[in-house]
Amino acid sequence: MQSAHRRRDNTMPVKPSVLQDRYRNRGTAFTLEERARLGITGRLPASVESLDQQAGRAYAQLQDQPSNLHKYIYLNQVHDRNQVLYYKLLGDHLNELLPVVYDPTVGEAIEKWSVDYRDSRAVYLSINRPEDMKASFQSLGLGPDDVDLIVVSDAQEILGIGDWGVNGTDISIGKLAVYTAAAGIDPNRVIAVNLDVGTDNEQLLNNPTYLGNRHARITGRRYDDFVALYLKTASELFPSAFLHFEDFGPSNARRILVENADKYRIFNDDMQGTGAIVMASAFSALKVTGGRWAEQRLVVFGAGTAGTGMADQIHAAMVRDGATPDEAKNNIWLIDIHGLVTDDMRDLPDYQQAYARPRSEVEGWSDGEIDLLTTLQHVKPTILIGTSTVHGAFTEEVVRTLAAGVERPLLLPLSNPTSRIEVMPSDAVPWSEGRVLMAVGIPVEPVQYNGVSYEIGQANNALLYPGLGLGTIVSGATHVTDNMLLAAAEAVAGQVDVSERGASLLPPVANLRASSATVAVAVAKAAAQDGVATKSYDNLIQAVQDAMWDPVYPADNLEDGR
Ligand code: NAI
Repeated sequence: MQSAHRRRDNTMPVKPSVLQDRYRNRGTAFTLEERARLGITGRLPASVESLDQQAGRAYAQLQDQPSNLHKYIYLNQVHDRNQVLYYKLLGDHLNELLPVVYDPTVGEAIEKWSVDYRDSRAVYLSINRPEDMKASFQSLGLGPDDVDLIVVSDAQEILGIGDWGVNGTDISIGKLAVYTAAAGIDPNRVIAVNLDVGTDNEQLLNNPTYLGNRHARITGRRYDDFVALYLKTASELFPSAFLHFEDFGPSNARRILVENADKYRIFNDDMQGTGAIVMASAFSALKVTGGRWAEQRLVVFGAGTAGTGMADQIHAAMVRDGATPDEAKNNIWLIDIHGLVTDDMRDLPDYQQAYARPRSEVEGWSDGEIDLLTTLQHVKPTILIGTSTVHGAFTEEVVRTLAAGVERPLLLPLSNPTSRIEVMPSDAVPWSEGRVLMAVGIPVEPVQYNGVSYEIGQANNALLYPGLGLGTIVSGATHVTDNMLLAAAEAVAGQVDVSERGASLLPPVANLRASSATVAVAVAKAAAQDGVATKSYDNLIQAVQDAMWDPVYPADNLEDGR
C-alpha cells in the first residue's frame, strides 16, 4: 500500500486552508502583508485586486455561462470560495440574478440536485434519526446568540414543481441568499435546513443517485412530532432566530403556522409573505378606487396554499376595518378544481372548509359545479386572484365579465412562470378597456393602451419577506403578529405613487435594499406597538441601517471564521 507521505510527495502542494474558507477567503484581494501573515505568500498571482475588480471579472465569467443553470452552478462555486465576493456580485446585479439564485432557475437545480451534488451549506435533519437533531445543529459550533435566521423546508411543494425531498435543500439556501442580498441579513448568522421526511416523488425514489431517505413521506403523528421537535430544538439552541418555513404542503403549512404562530418566532412565506404582498397590491388599488377593506368582495381562483393564505389576510384586513369575522367570510368565494367551494362538497381540505359557501345560497346558479364565469356574474368581485397554475383560465369573457361588475377591479393573475399565468396583462388591459388594476407573478413589460402606458407591478415576495425578517430581528420580536405583516404590506405600497393612470401598484424589484430597510422600520414599529418587541432604540432608522450586512472585506476577520 502506498503511504500517505509518498503520495503527498508526488502531488501538488495542498491548497492553504484560508483559500478554501469562504468566510475568510479574499483571493487576489489579500494584500502582500496579509499573504505573509497568513502563510500564503506565493500562492496567489502578484496583483492585489480590489473587490470591485474581482467582482468585474466574476461577472464577465458569469456572462460566459451558456444557460441560467450554468450561471446558478457558477455562482454557487463563487459562494463556496468567497462569500463576500458572491454577495457583492449578487448585490450589484440583483434584478438580473434574483431569477438565477432563486425562482425559476433554482427549480431546475433542484430537479438535478442529487446528480449534481458536490458540497452543501445546509443542515439535514432525518425523520428516522430525531435523536441526532441537536447534534446536527451543534456541529455548526454556533452559540445561542450567533443565529438570526433559519430557513427550513420539507420540500413537499417546491415552487409549483411539487415534491422534491432532500433535493429541495437548495430552496432554503436560495431564500437565505435573497435575505442577505435584499435586506442585508448577516450571512454568517443564518442556517439552511432540510427536514427529510421521505418523498412521494417516485422518480426520485427509483433514482439510484437520490441522496435522501428512500421511502414515502411520513405523515400523521410522527411527522407532527418531528416538526415540533425541530421548533423546540431550533428555538432552544438559537433563541433569537427568526424561523422561516418554506414550501411545505398546504395542509401541513397551515396547521404548523396556526398551531405555533403564538408560541414561536415563525413565519411561512408561502402563506403570510404571499398574502402580504397581495395586501400591498390591494392597498395601492384601494388608494386608486377610494374603497374600504370591509367593502371588498374577493374571488380566489385556485384555492391552494397561496390562494387561501391570501384569503386569510384579506379576511383579517376586513375584520380590522370593522367587519365581523362572519361578515368578512361572507365576502370571500373560493374556486378550486371542482368549481365554487360549497359546504356540501365532500373531503374538502381543512384550509378550504373555512370559506365554503352554504349550498342553499347558490341554489339555482348552476345544475352542477359552479364555474368562474357564473361566480363572477353573481358576485361582481372587486378583487379576482388567480393562483390556479392554469394558463389562460382568465379568458376574454372572464375579464370582460369582471370589468362589467365594477369600475376598477383588482386583477391578480399570480400563477407563474409565464406558461401558467391565468392571463397576460397585454390581453387583460385592452379587454377591460384599461380599467383593471393589475399585478402579476412574473416580470412583464408595460402595456400601451389608448395612449397610456400601464406599468404592471411584480408581486414578488422578495419585496416583503427580507424586510419583514430584518424588522423582526432588529426589534427582537417574540413572534410575528398580523399587524407586523400589515405594516410590511403598507410599507411596500407606500413606496409607489398611484395618482397617475397606469402607475404600477408595487415598487420595482430593482432597489430592494432600500425598500427592505423601509419595510423593516415599519415592522419593528408594529412589533413595539403590539408589545412583542424585546429591543428598543432611540433611532430605529439608524438601528436598521446598522444591522444590515454589507459585502465588503472587514478590517478584522483575517483569522476568525464566521
Ligand atoms: P397549490 O398547488 O397549493 O395551489 C393551486 C390550486 O389550484 C390547487 O388547490 C389546485 O387544486 C387548484 N387548481 C388546479 N387546477 C384548477 C382549475 N382548473 N380550476 C381551479 N382551481 C384549480 O400551489 P400554490 O403554492 O398555492 O401556488 C399556486 C400558484 O401561485 C403558483 O403558480 C405559484 O407560482 C403562484 N404564486 C405566486 C406568488 C406571487 O406571485 N407572489 C406567491 C405564491 C404563489
